[in-house]
Amino acid sequence: MKIFVPPIKSQGIKTKLVSWISSNVKSLEYDRWVEPFMGTGVVAFNVRPEKALLSDSNPHLIRFYSALKEKEITSSMVRKFLTEEGAKLLSSNGDYYYEVRNRFNSENHPLDFLFLSRSCFNGMMRFNRKGGFNVPFCKKPNRFAQALVTKISNQVENISQIIEQGDYTFKHQDFKETLKELKPNDLVYSDPPYIGRHVDYFDSWSEEEEIILKNALEGSGAKFVLSTWLSNKYRTNDYVFSVWGNCFVSTKEHFYHVGAKETNRNAVYEALLSNVKLSDSISTVEMKSRIILNESQLTTKKNSYEVSEQLVLALEEQKPITKPNT
Ligand SMILES: C[S@@+](CC[C@H](N)C(=O)[O-])C[C@H]1O[C@@H](n2cnc3c(N)ncnc32)[C@H](O)[C@@H]1O
Repeated sequence: MKIFVPPIKSQGIKTKLVSWISSNVKSLEYDRWVEPFMGTGVVAFNVRPEKALLSDSNPHLIRFYSALKEKEITSSMVRKFLTEEGAKLLSSNGDYYYEVRNRFNSENHPLDFLFLSRSCFNGMMRFNRKGGFNVPFCKKPNRFAQALVTKISNQVENISQIIEQGDYTFKHQDFKETLKELKPNDLVYSDPPYIGRHVDYFDSWSEEEEIILKNALEGSGAKFVLSTWLSNKYRTNDYVFSVWGNCFVSTKEHFYHVGAKETNRNAVYEALLSNVKLSDSISTVEMKSRIILNESQLTTKKNSYEVSEQLVLALEEQKPITKPNT
């Protein structure tokens, strides 16, 4: 599958998992694809549903994709903008990054957002308590060399075409508002922030919100698929069994790198939870018993490494989950 990579970067981006997610949902029928946490949009832009509602609490993401949809931003504008601003970045030896960051934090222009996303440290997206973008510079003054500018403008062109060919609505709103709009023939792909993992002005998540999400998804009558993690080197995600205990689960082992060294790689089991059977899923009840029995084969596909060396597959003692009023 050819993957279309979006021009905006973020730490939670699902580019490496998009083929797996697509293959799991491809046999499902639905009228509309809904993402309450669209992030960079990489999943929707590769699944390419005919009709979609894509929303996020981060206004800058929605403003950027709405501008592509309305053709207020085109690939040729991006090429010109990044070439000119990239030249100023180079001649200032990088100091110009902070001028663009200040300008963005007062004017919120989507082209400045793109510039920052592609020249900040590690392609991170992080906002302070006042909602200001606060990631430092990547320290490469020649960041926008011609090859990168061409790559980014091609990404903008591809995503603009995908948006043009579909019937897509972008909305800046909290997930609770998006979930109120659900219809029984929707398929919801939900990729909320991981509980307690990362706290940021637009991006934090609690157990209470996880339960509100679960109740609203179940109450809507729509099909849903949710991305989360099952297990890493240190622990197992007990919410898979406490909050999402009556679902189907498909898992995939995934490696991510810590720092630049090839040897510093950590494994994590990614999980897709759903209220319908996916092409490659088992029930969470079956998954729980495999973990309790210490079975290494958690995916339906063969593992490529000794699981016991990489992952802790033990459940914490189950604590009762109190349901808040929704
Ligand atoms: C894990 S990321 C989604 C990543 C996305 N699937 C991708 O591949 O780029 C989670 C997203 O949820 C958004 N978010 C956090 N809290 C939210 C809320 N209460 N309502 C709506 N979106 C929220 C964040 O802004 C972030 O873009």
